Amino acid sequence: MTKTLRYLKPYTGTVVLGLILKFLGSVSELFLPLLLEWIIDDVAANDSLTGNEKMKWTFVLGGFMLLCAVVALFGNILANRLTVKSSGRMTHDLRYDLFKKTCYLNSRQVDGFGVPSLISRLTSDSYYVNQMVARTLRLGVRAPILILGGLILAFAQDVVLALVLLACVPLVGITVFLINRKSIPMFTGVQKKQDDMVRRTQENVTGVRVIKALNKNEYEMQKFEDVTQDLASTEFRANRTMSLSNPLATLILNFGLVALIVVGAVRHSDSGLVLAFLQFFTIILNAMISLAKIFVVISRGSASAARIESVLAMDTEEKIGDFPGGDESRKIEFRDVNFSYNGVENNLENISFAISAGQTLGIIGPTGSGKSTVINLLMRFYDVGSGQIFIDGKDVRNYPNTELRKKFGVVFQNDFLMAASVRENVDYGRNLTDGQINKAIDCAQAREFVDGLDGGLNFDLAQKANNLSGGQKQRLLVARALASHPEILILDDSSSALDYATDAALRKALAREYASSTKIIVAQRISSIKHADLILVLDDGKIIGAGKHEDLVETCGEYNLIYSTQMGAEREAS
Ligand SMILES: Nc1ncnc2c1ncn2[C@@H]1O[C@H](COP(=O)(O)OP(=O)(O)O)[C@@H](O)[C@H]1O
Ligand SMILES: [Mg+2]
Repeated sequence: MTKTLRYLKPYTGTVVLGLILKFLGSVSELFLPLLLEWIIDDVAANDSLTGNEKMKWTFVLGGFMLLCAVVALFGNILANRLTVKSSGRMTHDLRYDLFKKTCYLNSRQVDGFGVPSLISRLTSDSYYVNQMVARTLRLGVRAPILILGGLILAFAQDVVLALVLLACVPLVGITVFLINRKSIPMFTGVQKKQDDMVRRTQENVTGVRVIKALNKNEYEMQKFEDVTQDLASTEFRANRTMSLSNPLATLILNFGLVALIVVGAVRHSDSGLVLAFLQFFTIILNAMISLAKIFVVISRGSASAARIESVLAMDTEEKIGDFPGGDESRKIEFRDVNFSYNGVENNLENISFAISAGQTLGIIGPTGSGKSTVINLLMRFYDVGSGQIFIDGKDVRNYPNTELRKKFGVVFQNDFLMAASVRENVDYGRNLTDGQINKAIDCAQAREFVDGLDGGLNFDLAQKANNLSGGQKQRLLVARALASHPEILILDDSSSALDYATDAALRKALAREYASSTKIIVAQRISSIKHADLILVLDDGKIIGAGKHEDLVETCGEYNLIYSTQMGAEREAS
């Protein structure tokens, strides 16, 4: 937790000032019962004073009481404001760093945490840390001062009555401790359940179409209900246990009050003194209850801090390797690459191929055969298990990430557009000229529909570009990939929503305008890759056919099968 608390350091001044004000406020509060006792016992019941003197002293001491009350009020208000400020800013900084770290995590690290868990670390966990810091600053000083100061003042007033009070404090302390020990682990359980709920919500929101299409609303609602029910009952159990502490503490208080009055009566104590002790008692007890609540927020907050710190502790530093070089005449080369996501079964096995600059590589194969994985490895989202991948004869692990990624223009499978203008989506913060953007739009076959949009390049896309058709989205994504005129262009299943004619026009434009770019086209349709210089047929992570279209039709049974089934559709379309 120390790493998290270090985020308070820049706000030390605010924190210290807040604590001083809190101290002043709390001490003033403690003086109230004392002043009251003086008025009752030493002024009102003092027969050696005249009526006028009594009046005068009552006003003076009453004035002090008013002053103490005002100091207590404003001290607390100001202190709380400062607390909100420092805890708020510190949470902001923490969240910022956490988000930044999350952005730099590599794909393996993201897989390890899981996206829903990263989301809840950024949202609810940082909220719990905020609550912990805010509550502790607000009550962490006040409660001990009230307890300790209350006891000191009580002892200074009357040792016997103070002992009665002191006897009750450990009783309350033990009760609260026992309850906390049981309920705190329960609250940690709540956090895990929350991860589950975020995961479910995320799945539901992203998969809403499929769920509707398959009429699985009821089914999903039931599953969601299960998760939320689980969360609610875990939280309920934790809070139920926790909520025992207040009534039990009050019960002990009431016994204590009775004992106090009995002892006071037996010893013929002054009524003002007993009254003051009743107040001390209440103040101390409330302070103990709030201390108990702090323990809960601290334990919850420290669990959250640990979850956040485990992300912050990830090593995201770039390691530039020193692997042996390959054939510099090849633009891209895979040399006997093996790879596994989970370290158990291989997702790619013995993958070897090479293409030269300006050539086109086509990859075809059933879903799950490893097509996207080839792209993931080439762009170094994951490192190979064994073997080597070269770009321009240099192992991809020898490139700084920014230098490597700059080489690519890519449309991922299920890629997304932002809720921003067409121009911003194609430019994507790269400060491209209108000339570059327009050229990309032309080549991506998006000219006609972009010109038809209200405002053209300035047309605003809705969230996830829901105001465009699937084919229009794909064309804009292709334009985005093309706009920087990349050395290597990758289209992962990104012509599936285009009709045959548009797809063909796109291929021609690519060959004409982007002749120097090396192209990798992943497709389900043979027509999209037919003209490639090299076609890989993947199945279950292995290359089961490699060559040009004409050769594969002859030599690769699976390829031939796909070809003959698709030929009919193609002939119909043209
Ligand atoms: N992040 C991941 N973690 C674990 N397994 C994965 C991950 N991504 C893909 N896989 C698995 O790797 C295999 C190949 O996936 P992929 O390359 O996406 O196939 P394709 O693009 O050919 O449809 C599949 O079995 C898939 O389930
Ligand atoms: Mg894929």
